[in-house]
Amino acid sequence: EQIEKGGYDHFMLKEIFEQPNAIKDTYRGRMLVKEGIIKMAGVDDNIEKFLNANRVIIVACGTSWHAGLVAEYIFEDLARIPVEVEYASEFRYRNPVITNKDVVIAISQSGETADTLAAIKLAKANGAFVFGVCNVVGSSIARETHAGAYTHAGPEIGVASTKAFTTQITLLTLIALKLAKVKGEISNTNYRYHLQELELIPEKVQKALESDEHIKAVASIYKDARNCLYLGRGYNFPVALEGALKLKEISYIHAEGYPAAEMKHGPIALIDENMPIVVIATKKGHYEKVVSNIEEIKARQGKIIGIVTEGDTNVKKLADHVIEVPETLESLSPLLTTIPLQLLSYHIAVMLGKNVDQPRNLAKSVTVE
Ligand code: G6P
Repeated sequence: EQIEKGGYDHFMLKEIFEQPNAIKDTYRGRMLVKEGIIKMAGVDDNIEKFLNANRVIIVACGTSWHAGLVAEYIFEDLARIPVEVEYASEFRYRNPVITNKDVVIAISQSGETADTLAAIKLAKANGAFVFGVCNVVGSSIARETHAGAYTHAGPEIGVASTKAFTTQITLLTLIALKLAKVKGEISNTNYRYHLQELELIPEKVQKALESDEHIKAVASIYKDARNCLYLGRGYNFPVALEGALKLKEISYIHAEGYPAAEMKHGPIALIDENMPIVVIATKKGHYEKVVSNIEEIKARQGKIIGIVTEGDTNVKKLADHVIEVPETLESLSPLLTTIPLQLLSYHIAVMLGKNVDQPRNLAKSVTVE
């Protein structure tokens, strides 16, 4: 097992550090930057299904559901396709309206999650075209769907999902860009720019990983917190949810993710000097509004950990700590802002002596209801 961990203390840490390569493996061969081409057999062969769809319904559970939420932003923003993101467990029992004009995208690392599999069967029975985004090759979901694409993240052993998440987002971004291009919804310049920036993401993730020691120091300050709030807006709202989930899963600290603007409708009541609040406040994407949320937190003595764009000075003045990530397009920023949140949870859990790779009560894949 030590050999499999490749010199890392835990699989989770190894998998966090594998992300630059995993993301590259996801787009390799599919994204031809110079030519400006995205090719993916599962999408290309069924392009009419996607183009004629009234809407896309994404079904997933856990971290994969969060990747679905990020995809909702990018599909709607770039490709102008309406998207609904559903917990597979709710979808399957809700008597949902599904038609043969719907495209269902099922996202699953393991490809074995029982609720997601059941949601797929229901969608198929109602005539929808079902596309799978899986990591495990030959898994049940990969076989049950009409078509699909693999993330190629490599085996993920840590129960708390890390590289599966960023590679799912990468893959879904490729699909959204492809559809945006074919539909003529995106300008050629913007399309090219996205491809170039996506190609740079692995090295920017690498840069984000270099903050590891700093993040560890921040973790040591907040490891004894009883609660933690995560705030983000737009593309980074799902990242706030995912950050909170990571902390809960492995450190057992209660954490909640919230859209920053919703803070005033509830969570603000929780804020006092004992509440650490992780705020994703990267440039672009409602930056000024998030900065004013930070001011509101500060006025209530909350402890602020800001996830900021390299070189940021505004948030630095207000926050107790800042963790920098490189600059990129807002639509690609979740691939970077996720990294410090993974490391923060990891270090807190290790410091608390928790079983990081196999947290209590959780399973890597949930094959029963
Ligand atoms: C379990 C795992 C999570 C995962 C979820 C969905 O709860 O612990 O890490 O996100 O299942 O799994 P899937 O394999 O369908 O992505």
